[in-house]
Amino acid sequence: PVIAPELQPAIQPTLPDAQTVTSVTHWTDSLFSFRVTRPNSLRFRSGEFVMLGLMKEDGRPLLRAYSIASPAWDDELEFYSIKVQDGPLTSRLQHIRPGDQIILRPKPVGTLVHDALIPGKRLWFFATGTGIAPFASLLREPETWEKYDEVILTHTCRDPEDLAYGRQLVDGLPGDPLIGELVGGKLRYYPTTTRGQSARMGRITDLLRSGKVFEDLGVPEIDPETDRAMVCGSIGLNTDLKEILEGFGLREGANSDPAEYVVEKAFVG
Ligand code: A2P
Repeated sequence: PVIAPELQPAIQPTLPDAQTVTSVTHWTDSLFSFRVTRPNSLRFRSGEFVMLGLMKEDGRPLLRAYSIASPAWDDELEFYSIKVQDGPLTSRLQHIRPGDQIILRPKPVGTLVHDALIPGKRLWFFATGTGIAPFASLLREPETWEKYDEVILTHTCRDPEDLAYGRQLVDGLPGDPLIGELVGGKLRYYPTTTRGQSARMGRITDLLRSGKVFEDLGVPEIDPETDRAMVCGSIGLNTDLKEILEGFGLREGANSDPAEYVVEKAFVG
């Protein structure tokens, strides 16, 4: 029998590696975060990134690297992104809504992982802009709090409103049912802005060079005996911070050869 077209079930094109969007939060005109279902097969280490994107008109996937902002134990995946009005991916991705599908390749990689650092007492997370994403994962990772006595998160953005995602995350940690107790009083948060007026102004690189960060936080200078660092921002930030950290005597580590600090470019931006 011939089934009339209007009676045929709608045929959903099956996307390879499709995941479903569960929530979207718009933080500013140029920043948003979203959560998606997690593939059963996906195992990752907090701090790693995956390739994520949308299908193009021509039926091919358009993918970009995105740090996973949720911790390894979460049953969903969270991402934090800029919106570029003429960006090939984010001009479209910024319009996703719950129920929509995205493509996610379940092959996590990255250097901002605990395995790439040797043991220490104090851990610094240096982020600019959306570079806070891998630290949003690591801040919710129990291993972070089990391994270190103190964790210092610095986040530098152009304007105060760009700090909102990170601030909400930090504010939520002490009351988090899973890791709140582990966090205890160990977290220090050091947000700065470089353009819009805020309580603390300036690039983190300048604040480290002048010693102002240590003064403000009341902590000793970075010391290779005790301090470990993870850096995630623009190429310029990464290059400048490498020089600063090496000036303090820290060496760059990798998965295969752990040391005192690791760096990764903040993607999509
Ligand atoms: P600035 O406003 O002085 O350029 P962007 O939005 O361009 O990715 O920048 C995010 C933040 O990172 C901004 O506050 C920016 O400061 C800062 N930044 C950019 N490059 C560097 C760098 N080389 N060292 C330190 N901070 C940087």
